[in-house]
Amino acid sequence: MNRDKTKSKLVKLMQAAYSGELAAALAYGGHWRSLKLASEIEAIKQIEEDEWKHRERVGEILDELGVGPSPWRERIFFLIGSTIAVICRFCGHFCAAYFAGILEKGNVNEYNLAHQYATELEMTHLLESFREMEKTEAEHEVVLFKMVENHGFLPYFRYFFKWGDASDFLIEE
Ligand SMILES: [Fe+2]
Ligand SMILES: [Fe+2]
Repeated sequence: MNRDKTKSKLVKLMQAAYSGELAAALAYGGHWRSLKLASEIEAIKQIEEDEWKHRERVGEILDELGVGPSPWRERIFFLIGSTIAVICRFCGHFCAAYFAGILEKGNVNEYNLAHQYATELEMTHLLESFREMEKTEAEHEVVLFKMVENHGFLPYFRYFFKWGDASDFLIEE
């Protein structure tokens, strides 16, 4: 793949990540407000904080790439995040954590792909940030899995949505 194509893929990926982090942070803001258990509230508050930090870092990377956020993505993902924040209040403890877990898996893959593009572009100074964010997203995924792992709905959701297999998280133990 030529350099320009890879760079344009990285730009699109970073614009998607920038707005995705906004939606995630807003959604987690609603998520922790819907919880009752103090330890879970703290865990999700921490995740919200991590997502704001990711957004800040991705914003710096966009600056470096010489592009701004995508205005339409910003509007749509603001709406998505705010809507999920409200849905969390009604969706219930299991469902909010389960679907957040699926999204976190997507984020892990997103930063892994960004790492590959940055490697191809020889932008080695970005590699550490991408690995760091990938690792944090993987940790988020584990936190969310632990919130649902003993729930009776999990086997059914796992069957339909293909997320939540304990063997995927064994490395964290
Ligand atoms: Fe994130
Ligand atoms: Fe995350």
